[in-house]
Amino acid sequence: MPGRFITIEGGEGVGKTTNITYIREWLQSRGIPHLVTREPGGTPYAEKIRGLLLEHQEERVDAVAELLLIFASRAQHLARCIRPALARGTWVVCDRFTDATYAYQGAGRQLGMDKVATLEQMVQGDLRPDLTLVLDIDPREGLRRARARGDLDRFETEQLAFFESVRRAYLELAAAHPDRYAVIDAAQPLDEVQRAIAGALEAL
Ligand code: TMP
Repeated sequence: MPGRFITIEGGEGVGKTTNITYIREWLQSRGIPHLVTREPGGTPYAEKIRGLLLEHQEERVDAVAELLLIFASRAQHLARCIRPALARGTWVVCDRFTDATYAYQGAGRQLGMDKVATLEQMVQGDLRPDLTLVLDIDPREGLRRARARGDLDRFETEQLAFFESVRRAYLELAAAHPDRYAVIDAAQPLDEVQRAIAGALEAL
């Protein structure tokens, strides 16, 4: 049986890292073979592209150039990591995937959803996550948490309005496909967030 594909999404400072550790332990305790990976990145080559995307640049980065780099890293990640893992029955837990591109580039950068959908079809064919967990928090609180963590990358220095668009896009994607998404209130105490995550994993 092919592995299941789980993605974790949300704005900045929603607690993806802590909750991915929880998901890893949940899968481990059930003896489910799995790997945890991330986007942009996930293979050595794709991680180089991640560096280009996240580092501050002297030159203003064109939004379409950014979009294409994200899908270039995704193509590599799918070919060398995600598809082979799923084919051998390993579950894949990915810290962000194409929903982030809809939210950050489609909405945040205002490129529109159609461009993202075209590249999604080209790069992924029919492959979509089986479950997407959207950790949702007011971006004001998320940014406060992200800033408290230290140095900000090229995305984290965007203004509040950008992250409000990102949040709206995630919630709209989830509302349009309720069977695939679980929206989790990330402002709740951690044990409640994790109870909600466990519920979504059990259902899967
Ligand atoms: P993170 O690893 O801290 O989540 O950082 C990745 C950053 O990249 C985050 O700010 C969101 C951004 N990003 C996009 O803009 N589009 C994408 O498709 C992905 C996967 C990430």
